[in-house]
Amino acid sequence: MKSKLANAQDNISAIKDIMICPICSMALNIDAAAVKCANNHTFNISKKGLVNFASPLNDKIYNKELFTARKIVLNSGIYDQVYKELIKLIKDNSIILDAGAGEGTYLDVIVREFSNVKTIGLDLAKSGLEIASDCQTASYFLADLANIPLADNSLDYILNILSPANYAEFDRILKNDGCLIKVIVNDNYLKEIRNAINKTEERNDNVYNNLAEQMDIISESDITYEYPLDHDLATNLIKMTPMTNHIQEQIFIDKITIDLKIIVARKKV
Ligand SMILES: C[S@@+](CC[C@H](N)C(=O)[O-])C[C@H]1O[C@@H](n2cnc3c(N)ncnc32)[C@H](O)[C@@H]1O
Ligand SMILES: [Zn+2]
Repeated sequence: MKSKLANAQDNISAIKDIMICPICSMALNIDAAAVKCANNHTFNISKKGLVNFASPLNDKIYNKELFTARKIVLNSGIYDQVYKELIKLIKDNSIILDAGAGEGTYLDVIVREFSNVKTIGLDLAKSGLEIASDCQTASYFLADLANIPLADNSLDYILNILSPANYAEFDRILKNDGCLIKVIVNDNYLKEIRNAINKTEERNDNVYNNLAEQMDIISESDITYEYPLDHDLATNLIKMTPMTNHIQEQIFIDKITIDLKIIVARKKV
């Protein structure tokens, strides 16, 4: 069986033409266990297959425990309706970046669905990407959304799911007919957890307005449903969200509300 590093080298070869150096914007070439530009800026590929373009985020919140729980929850069926809606928005034969990919499940789902997509998962949380790289379905960049090592006009889709955005970068790297698919929370998202810890509803107005100012929104849809939980799934769901990070007491919930907005946007013309 191929090592993770060898698999990563194969995945990176497939997207090499659109990778650029985050320091000088020159093209990057694979050089053994690294990618390198003509100015000798060198970014190593770790044994787990991550290309290290930046220093990882401090993992006090987004740590291995959170991402392990997130992986279990994202593969449990709870988010299947969300996946179905996302898949309807994507066409085969495309290049897709998940900006804020976390533990990579969204890209795994997409790669299973389409026969010819090239996928890149970018995040600053090393522990998330190391879990993502177990599936070896994408190239994984440990990199900052504010300095994405991809060429101008190179992507068909950017997914940006419950993650921060950098619209200047998204605008630069999207093709003119490319789409940003952004998922944001609506008021009732995970309301059972919020109620249990007396946290007020999550408002998405700022996030929405900010996106509307920067890009042309071409469609949006709300996806809202309840999902029943057994004890194990409830435990993982509580662990997977940064909301409960500081909570000591036990939380008991037997169902969860998913309430998300999926927005498709294009570059402003
Ligand atoms: C709530 S998680 C969502 C992860 C995944 N999209 C999901 O829905 O499971 C937000 C992600 O954004 C990442 N993130 C935050 N700031 C970032 C930055 N400046 N550059 C890259 N990733 C960032 C975090 O590390 C985290 O993985
Ligand atoms: Zn360089």
